[in-house]
This record gives sequence, structure tokens and C-alpha cells, in this order.
Amino acid sequence: MITLGIESTAHTFGIGIIKDEKGKINVFCNLRDMYKTEKGGIIPIESAKHHKEVADKLYQDALQQSKINEKDINIIAYSAAPGLPPCLKEGKEFAKKLAMKLNRSLVPVNHCIAHLEIGRTLTKAKDPVLLYCSGANTQVIVFTERKYRIFGETLDQGIGNFIDAFGRYIGFGFPAGPEIEEMASHGKNFIKLPYSIKGMDVAFAGLLTNLKQKFDSKRYSIEDLCYSMQETAFAMLIETAERALSHCQKKELLLGGGVACNKRLQEMAKIMCKERNAKCFILENQYNVDNAVMIADLGLKMFKAGIFVKPEQAEIFPYERTDDVKVKWR
Ligand code: ATP
Ligand code: FE2
Repeated sequence: MITLGIESTAHTFGIGIIKDEKGKINVFCNLRDMYKTEKGGIIPIESAKHHKEVADKLYQDALQQSKINEKDINIIAYSAAPGLPPCLKEGKEFAKKLAMKLNRSLVPVNHCIAHLEIGRTLTKAKDPVLLYCSGANTQVIVFTERKYRIFGETLDQGIGNFIDAFGRYIGFGFPAGPEIEEMASHGKNFIKLPYSIKGMDVAFAGLLTNLKQKFDSKRYSIEDLCYSMQETAFAMLIETAERALSHCQKKELLLGGGVACNKRLQEMAKIMCKERNAKCFILENQYNVDNAVMIADLGLKMFKAGIFVKPEQAEIFPYERTDDVKVKWR
């Protein structure tokens, strides 16, 4: 069966096409076009406009690259939750129109869960704890009692948004993560920064304010600030992930989300896993960042479990939480 996935929760509009063959997926294409700004920050309406503008062209490119005719598509999946409402709406409308034209069912997919499921599909991980660190989301997700449950999360902003906000303050464009990672690699002196974990949750607002003050004081180099920021914020994430592994007696960790592309975060995760005899799974960057192959992958699993809707019933759920979803496919 050939499944087409559409991603549109925030800044990325993506189209992915997969074919499942004997339980494995064959990725035909994983295309994306990202809304970027020079000054930083996302304006939801502008991002949605971007999605509308690029959708048709990206779809044609996807068919061409996959060497298929659109009639070959059996299932259409779209990211229905959670995300920025105007962006979700564009993706849903595109999916709905296509499903009506081709007379196919639609599968509404939860984006956060898709980040975990693609890890299970592409690696040998069977039951990993997901450290999901993207722009808007920072969650430690574990499968227990038939649901994906959030064991820890950010109490304010997502790690990526925090990194981007700091980047914007010191003059970097959006997204700032890669540039900050590069700067951090030249840092030499560790500057002590606020480290805030509350129970299993983390918070970044205090850290951001402190970093801004230190930047304004002109007493520290940007390299040292970026380096110390990464060491501190990532240690908080790794600590919560480790506690989830211990608490739930799980032996596998999977990284996901755009910030999971960061080599230092990957290194810290590997060290922690090695110390506690757990396995650490890291995906290719194209499957860490927002991508449509993960939407197609989870859409296919849900379809096989009987979860799909008629095109006219397509909806978006901007505030759906990871643990709202009934997991019938596992
Ligand atoms: P979600 O909708 O799942 O919250 P998102 O819309 O924020 O995701 P992602 O592509 O998962 O999108 O993540 C984007 C974030 O990842 C941005 O905040 C960006 O700065 C950050 N990022 C990307 N590469 C790196 C890197 N190398 N180091 C740190 N952060 C990075
Ligand atoms: Fe994401």
C-alpha cells in the first residue's frame, strides 16, 4: 500500500510518500519546504500562507520523485494535532481536497506520537522512551497502559523556542539552533547558569532571562554563553529522560524533534545510556525535524488499526495532548 503524509503543524510544509513491504517501509520521498524569517520568530498566518503557496508544487515534485501516479496513492494521512491552528488548517484542507478528488479515506495523525512511531519503524527500538525536543514541544514520552504518557515536560516554552529566543536576542536568524551549536563548539569556559528541574518537569524562562542579562553585561563571550547554555539546558533534558528510564524500567532511549539534530545533545544521551546499560537510538536528521514521512508512517499504522475518517469529517485538534490519543495500533 502507498501512503501519502502531509505535515503542516508549524513552520514546515512537508509531503512524504511511503510504501509498506512486509512490515518495513520504503521511503519514496520526504520533501519539505520551511517558512523562514531573517529576524526570528514565526507569525502563524504568514507560515500558513507559505504552506498554501508551496503545497501544489511540492505535491507534484513528490509524485515525480516517487515515480508514481496520484491514483496509486491508497491512504492519505495529515498532521491534525497539535500545532498552530492556521498552519494545521492549510494541511487539512490540502489533504481533504486530495482525498475527495481521489476518493480516499483520511487519517488524522498526532504529530508528537508520529515522532516516536517513526523511531520504532526505522530503528530496532521496540519500546523506547522518547526524549522529544523540538521547537514548541519538550516532552519525555513513555508507552504505558495502552497510551503514550508524558512523564516530564517543559513548564513554559519548548527547548527549541528557548534556543531560538536566545538566538534572536543575540542577533541570529530563525532557526538559531544550528548556528548556536556551531558557536558553542568554540566555547572554552563554562559559566554557571540556573538549572531548573521541578519534579520531572523542566523550565527555561529563568535560564533565558539570566542568559540575556549575561549577554547585556558584555562580560562573557558569545561562544562561552552558547556553550554553557547547551551544557545546562541539555543536562536538564538528559536528567529527566534518565529518571523516566529508571522509573519505568525501560532500556531504550530515542531522541526526536529538531533539537535532536544537535551533536552535543546526542553525545550526552549516548553517555547517559551507556552508563545505565540502555540503548540509545538516534535518527537521521531528516526524521528528527518535522517531516511528512513520520505522518505517513503513523497514518499507515492507524489505518491498519481501523482509524480513518471520510474527507468531509476531517478536523484539526490544535491542543490535543499526547495522552489524549487511544493507541489501538500497538
Ligand atoms: P514541533 O511542531 O514538533 O514542536 P517544530 O515545529 O519546532 O516541532 P522541529 O523541526 O522539530 O520543528 O524543530 C525545530 C527546532 O529545532 C528549532 O527551534 C531549531 O532551532 C531547533 N534545531 C534545529 N537544529 C538544531 C541544532 N543543531 N541544535 C539545536 N537546535 C536545533
Ligand atoms: Fe515536530
